Amino acid sequence: MKDFIYYAPTEVVFGRESEEKVAQLIKKYGGTKVLVHYGGKSAQKSGLLPKICDLLTQGGVSYVLLGGVVPNPRLSLVHQGIGLCRKEGVDFILAVGGGSVIDSAKAIAYGVPYSGEVWDFYLGKATPTAMLPVASVLTIPAAGSEMSEASVITNDDGDVKIGYSNTLARPKFAIMNPERTFTLPPYQTAAGVTDMMMHTMERYFSKDDDMDVTTDIAEACLRSMRNAVTFVLDNPSNYRYRAQIMWAGSLMHNGLTGCGVSDDWATHQLEHELSGMFDVTHGAGLSAVWPSWARYVMDANLSRFVRFAVNVMDVPNDFTDPQGTAERGIQAMEQFYHRIGMPINIKELIGREVTDDEIKEMVRKCSRDYQRTCGCLKVLAAEDMEKIYRMAKG
Ligand code: NZQ
Ligand code: ZN
Repeated sequence: MKDFIYYAPTEVVFGRESEEKVAQLIKKYGGTKVLVHYGGKSAQKSGLLPKICDLLTQGGVSYVLLGGVVPNPRLSLVHQGIGLCRKEGVDFILAVGGGSVIDSAKAIAYGVPYSGEVWDFYLGKATPTAMLPVASVLTIPAAGSEMSEASVITNDDGDVKIGYSNTLARPKFAIMNPERTFTLPPYQTAAGVTDMMMHTMERYFSKDDDMDVTTDIAEACLRSMRNAVTFVLDNPSNYRYRAQIMWAGSLMHNGLTGCGVSDDWATHQLEHELSGMFDVTHGAGLSAVWPSWARYVMDANLSRFVRFAVNVMDVPNDFTDPQGTAERGIQAMEQFYHRIGMPINIKELIGREVTDDEIKEMVRKCSRDYQRTCGCLKVLAAEDMEKIYRMAKG
């Protein structure tokens, strides 16, 4: 069992009307001048953004606005945000949106007190010692950024997508009103659940299998999400199941399902190159690559894949054929992905065959010019990454 630190300091304010507390919470965490950061159209269209602005005004909190965050958030807008915050004397950043908006907010928050180039943190060339406080009003359960220490940014110059984690970036609070997710399109709902399940699967498929409590929590969350997403796709305005998804999205990435185990993250690393290169939805990129990753690595801990098949995917355990049981678990996951409208290979993801040159370029980027490996259950060198991308071609 691996030693661990569990640190999840974000105050969660969950439920109907929870956004009413926004001004009070900002003041509690010391904010006096706020950057309200948001995405494209959804928060404006649903009326959430104007409502947050009204609540801030009524609560005596002054603010400036910066919208325009796109999925796979770009470094150029982060630079713009840093400039705006400095000019306006902003001391608190409120993200109104999903993972992309929250990650962009975190990057701006790193950059404001730093005299150098913020991208250096993502490249591992520098380490932040301070950042502005960040919080969110979450509108899409998926990335888990509302409680996580991670931020993933795409540098528009070369479409390189890199994640950076630091405990400083744990948000101060997260406002979660499941009703705000009723407007999510089916594709985003399904991609979001795919992502949150993968956050736990990255930790579940571990070399360490002696932390029973963590494993049991992980399996329960995964089963709940299988059920909830199926129900919500047919009943988009069902509060009960939207709420399960919203809460699970945070729990499945705030560290809880990783206590005592070594985590893997190879599927995420392989996916970041897909969304960096093709600008696809992160969750859909994950389902396109996971079945191939799973088949490539499953012998590294076969009993774990058998356990997943039986306890999560309801596959009957054939004790005489663990390999077959594990394979049927992966097939059941593929069927689940298809049922909820997610791709199971790159062709389904991007609508055409990926070329050899594109695969080579993704391998080069994913291995950081052949200098790094990824994964933990099975450590993947550049040639392994290439084999998995080829298996996932479709
Ligand atoms: O831009 P708008 O118009 O708001 O539309 C968004 C966007 O197009 C829409 N949307 C959000 N809430 C909505 C809504 N549409 C209707 N009703 C609502 N209530 O959904 C689209 C996707 O939004 P986005 O924020 O991109 O989604 P998500 O939360 O999945 O974030 C994805 C990003 O997070 C990164 C991913 O790589 C990707 O860049 N990740 C961040 C992590 C972290 N910080 O811990 C971990 C993850 O593994 C992930 O890598
Ligand atoms: Zn993810």
